[in-house]
Amino acid sequence: MKRIAVFTSGGDAPGMNACIRAVVRTAVYHGIEVYGIMRGYSGMIKGEFVKLDSASVSNTVQRGGTILKSARSQKFMTKEGRQQAYDQLMNNGIEGLIAIGGNGTFTGATLFEQEFGIPTVGAPGTIDNDLFGTDYTIGYDTAVNTALEAIDKIRDTADSHDRCFFIEVMGRDSGYIAIPCAIGGGAEIVMVPETQMSTEAVIDTLREGWKRSKTSFIVIVAEGEVEGNVHEVAKRVKAAIPQLDTRVTIVGHIQRGGSPTAADRLLSSQIGIAAVEGLVNGMRNVMAGIVDKKLVYTPFADTISKKKLINQSFMRMVEILNS
Ligand code: F6P
Repeated sequence: MKRIAVFTSGGDAPGMNACIRAVVRTAVYHGIEVYGIMRGYSGMIKGEFVKLDSASVSNTVQRGGTILKSARSQKFMTKEGRQQAYDQLMNNGIEGLIAIGGNGTFTGATLFEQEFGIPTVGAPGTIDNDLFGTDYTIGYDTAVNTALEAIDKIRDTADSHDRCFFIEVMGRDSGYIAIPCAIGGGAEIVMVPETQMSTEAVIDTLREGWKRSKTSFIVIVAEGEVEGNVHEVAKRVKAAIPQLDTRVTIVGHIQRGGSPTAADRLLSSQIGIAAVEGLVNGMRNVMAGIVDKKLVYTPFADTISKKKLINQSFMRMVEILNS
């Protein structure tokens, strides 16, 4: 393989730049030309390619966001869009791709390989940590630490005013961000899509705490929570326990930004190297990940269809630590 390209797609995640840097430097190390594709699949369709060399990724390892920018492309989900993307790759002599993204990114790559035979190796880039085939995704550790910092600050004011705060953290369909935030942030309750805790159970726990003379509470709610959004949950609790002074905070996109933690820089670098070496060694349609401290390549089909289960003992920990 003489020329490859790298792109970031879907929601950005801290550590994507460290991963791009590792991809570029590994390609350079192996004497392979490397191009960056701007704005994910959208830029691939439009032919937004930039030649990268070692210097292009200097001073990026510590930067949040993605220097290649990111997008969620509807057009690539059409056959016509993928045909245009393929034509652009051929015009630029690109033989293989490194895709840094999540589920949607790998779904697109799978279709692309089936139709046009373009080999892709993926790097798990999403703060949600919801990808099967890696213990941690790029950006997850940073996002949890960012959310935790916000929760610590909210706890100060919750305590001063004897209030109950409902705090929403990100994670489209998963509680991976919410759970360590609850344990590390000393929350009384965590609501995640995986366990489907009812609002009634939340009310019972808060009532029980109130009886034990607790005066301030933190309830972490994952954004994909099935009982409804954080405002609805808070409203139902307030109606059931009027004496609680309730407030809602949505941590939001702050979780997607910022300088990656040491853990994320290390993971991104390991995976960036593994992705390029996998691609040049003939791998295709797989994602590089770390499971039990070992490098593994998992077929895209599994990363997309298999559910990474949350550790149930963490839910029990939240309960015990609230005693
Ligand atoms: O996938 C990462 C993520 O931040 C999810 O946690 C969240 O549901 C979604 O992206 C938000 O996407 P957008 O930035 O497009 O609103």
